[in-house]
Amino acid sequence: MAGGLIGKGTANGKQYPGKLTFRVFVTCMVAAFGGLIFGYDLGISGGVTSMDPFLKKFFPDVYAKEMNMKPSDNQYCRFDSQILTLFTSSLYLAALVASLCASSITRIFGRRLTMLSGGILFLAGAGFNAFAQKVWMLIVGRMLLGFGIGCANQSVPIYVSEVAPYKYRGALNMMFQLAITIGIFVANVLNYFFAKMKNGEGWRYSLGFAAVPAVMIIIGAIFLPDSPSSLIERGKDEKAKQELIKIRGTSDVDEEFKDLVEASQSSMAVKHPWATLLKRHYRPQLVMAIAIPFFQQLTGMNVITFYAPVLFRTIGFGSNASLMSSMITGGFNALATFVSIFTVDKVGRRKLFLEGGAQMFICQIVITAAIASKFGVDGNPGMLPIWYAFFVVGFICIYVMGFAWSWGPLGWLVPSEIFPLEVRSAAQSINVSVNMIFTFAIAQVFTSMLCHMKFGLFIFFACFVLVMSGFIYKFLPETKGVPIEEMSVVWQNHSYWKKFVKSASEEANAKVDNSC
Ligand code: BGC
Repeated sequence: MAGGLIGKGTANGKQYPGKLTFRVFVTCMVAAFGGLIFGYDLGISGGVTSMDPFLKKFFPDVYAKEMNMKPSDNQYCRFDSQILTLFTSSLYLAALVASLCASSITRIFGRRLTMLSGGILFLAGAGFNAFAQKVWMLIVGRMLLGFGIGCANQSVPIYVSEVAPYKYRGALNMMFQLAITIGIFVANVLNYFFAKMKNGEGWRYSLGFAAVPAVMIIIGAIFLPDSPSSLIERGKDEKAKQELIKIRGTSDVDEEFKDLVEASQSSMAVKHPWATLLKRHYRPQLVMAIAIPFFQQLTGMNVITFYAPVLFRTIGFGSNASLMSSMITGGFNALATFVSIFTVDKVGRRKLFLEGGAQMFICQIVITAAIASKFGVDGNPGMLPIWYAFFVVGFICIYVMGFAWSWGPLGWLVPSEIFPLEVRSAAQSINVSVNMIFTFAIAQVFTSMLCHMKFGLFIFFACFVLVMSGFIYKFLPETKGVPIEEMSVVWQNHSYWKKFVKSASEEANAKVDNSC
């Protein structure tokens, strides 16, 4: 992997020695298993809620409605139930709460311990869900899973960005997204097979299997070293230097170490990271911490992640074909992530964002036209030809690929690399929280939106894709190849943000002027 990813130096000419050591690679791989936890859960709920024995046991009303559905009824409203979507969405509310607390935990106890807590909570949640007898057990399980996800999503991307050499930071950080997509895909595959279990208990296996990524992250977090930045932050400078030497594979780390210590000192001087983040000086970071996760969710990708089986059933597929089609889109999602891994440090973030946006927009228009032409506004398509199924699934796959090499991975990578240490935990908390709020909102309202907006649902997301592409074009500077400690330079050089961010020399001049 490294061969194709040689960096070209930095925006400001600073170059730290050090290579992509085996230790860094393994470290990042294990850390990125945090993404598996998240992905597995994203991918599992849609399939489980489309399994009849599950619906019959926990949501008998929804099951009865589904059973009494006639082919001539409005298909758009077939799965419109707030209780059912609450099963999927409740987890993201818990994750939201956890990500706010996880910010303090990562600062005080380190990224590693936060990951470990995430794994343990997730394991407990998987247990509750697998053995659930009553709805309350499902809900408690979902909330534990949510707390686990909040911890993992807060700590993993930051950890990986801190440990990776800056030249490979993009690619290594994307292991997190790759793990998310693998988690989703594995969930899709298991749903497909478990749904066939004759005893009707397949859903227990689907939900219980979440214990596997949980155990992986627990083991990983036990053996992982803490990141040098995190060790310095907790006053363990000597240990931090030793760790830096090990992960960089060279003892020539003095310059990088000095910069890390300086960054940490200025961060320690900040007693209130939340209030600090509100200062004018951090406006670009604050705006990105809110806008990037908001836009990532408004691409509409999670309509596919959560509800592909429901969507495919709505447009006329049988239960098996729906789960199979979700498996196919899940596979494309994981595969396309590799494109990003191999290109992000070469072509840069902006180009991927813009290309992915254009691709998603075109597909959304085509999918809208396809659904509108057959289902119209009354949602009654009659017999659908077989080519139609291939056509829709094909364009959904192209759409998913567009997301998978742009907003998917970059939605986590860019925020994790633009926050300076002094506000990093707080800003990452905002990033995760905004992501969770909108993940929750989309999970909760999708079936109702589909029922009311019909094929217009996809136009709704297409409009957002246009807006977010314009936002990236105008406001996001390229961050490829810039060391994390030097990131302030990109804002100082940016046509819009430079008025918010003063350069070090301007600040010094301002101090002199004030003292005169
Ligand atoms: C997003 C998730 C999404 C996943 C799909 C992630 O980056 O945060 O909301 O489900 O990508 O691959």
